[in-house]
Amino acid sequence: MRNPRDFTTPLALGAPQPPADIPVRPSRMIHFFDPSNERMAVKVPGIIPKTDVLLANLEDAIDANNKVAAREGLIQIAKDNDFGDTQFWVRINSLDSPWVLDDLIRIVTEVGNVIDVIMVPKVEGAWDIHYVDRLLAQLEAKGQVSRSILVHAILETALGVANVEEICAASPRMQGISLGPADLAASRRMKTTRVGGGHPGYLVRVDPDANDPDAHRATAQQDLWHYTMARMVDACAATGCLPYYGPFGDISDPIACEDQFRNAFLMGCVGAWSLHPNQIEIARRVFSPPPDEVLWAKRVIEEMGDGTGTVMIDGKMQDDATVKQCRVMVETGKLIARRDAEYAELYSFSEQDLQLP
Ligand code: GLV
Ligand code: MG
Repeated sequence: MRNPRDFTTPLALGAPQPPADIPVRPSRMIHFFDPSNERMAVKVPGIIPKTDVLLANLEDAIDANNKVAAREGLIQIAKDNDFGDTQFWVRINSLDSPWVLDDLIRIVTEVGNVIDVIMVPKVEGAWDIHYVDRLLAQLEAKGQVSRSILVHAILETALGVANVEEICAASPRMQGISLGPADLAASRRMKTTRVGGGHPGYLVRVDPDANDPDAHRATAQQDLWHYTMARMVDACAATGCLPYYGPFGDISDPIACEDQFRNAFLMGCVGAWSLHPNQIEIARRVFSPPPDEVLWAKRVIEEMGDGTGTVMIDGKMQDDATVKQCRVMVETGKLIARRDAEYAELYSFSEQDLQLP
């Protein structure tokens, strides 16, 4: 247990004050790129305005021989680019790897003021977050970083899932959690070789027809990730962190990718990873609330006046609870509209609507 009163005290002398609240910024897509790849580095300025979050990946998918080149590439990219209001994140190597200590030392002391969030893979319990928390404070003090770097954990081991609430509550730096379906499947010994998404074998089937037992029986694929997503969303909402769906590996199947992202959106996630430029647009579409829902929610809020009692709108009962649901939709719409002019128009928000309170 950490003393909650100490949450506002830096963990090292000279480190910045830890945040009281996590800044909620649009993060519909966390776009991954390999910073060791010089062809990618050249494209970074063009990608920055297209993505809510740009993430330099140092962990899995980076060849062991390229780990140092990726770290150096990331530092150079951080120095060379202006990220504007796009967030710049980094996924460090896992805490049991030989690279992670140098990742943290170099990144925080050299470009700590440019990095918004550090994504930590394979987090298993609060102890992993405590380790990173203290180390970050020491390095922020050393590197004269002016504001706390936030921490994002990937939920990708069975132990991590068992401890998800404690992970979320382990530090005021905890910004959010992503589901990591590939590592999680391996850790649980699930029998799927896919990166996220459904599986044709995981299904339910209608009962046989007693009069025609050999007739075709319809089936429906089920979502292998539903349980974990639900736990992750609750743990995040309970602690003021943000939940994200992670990677969808089948780049050639944009329809199933969109479905998986939408399930996550409907359950409360704020974004997903994009592993390919095509997935940026899918995430943008899915994690921006549907315009008709935002317009409907605005109408309910307006007709509900002070937000108490009941009214009937188009045959649907509205009360104190539905108005809260509608506020979630409208507040999310405003957040997106402040960054994305196309959606501001689709939602019919005026400049005045979008002013910060
Ligand atoms: C992501 O890192 C995953 O393992 O799915
Ligand atoms: Mg992983």
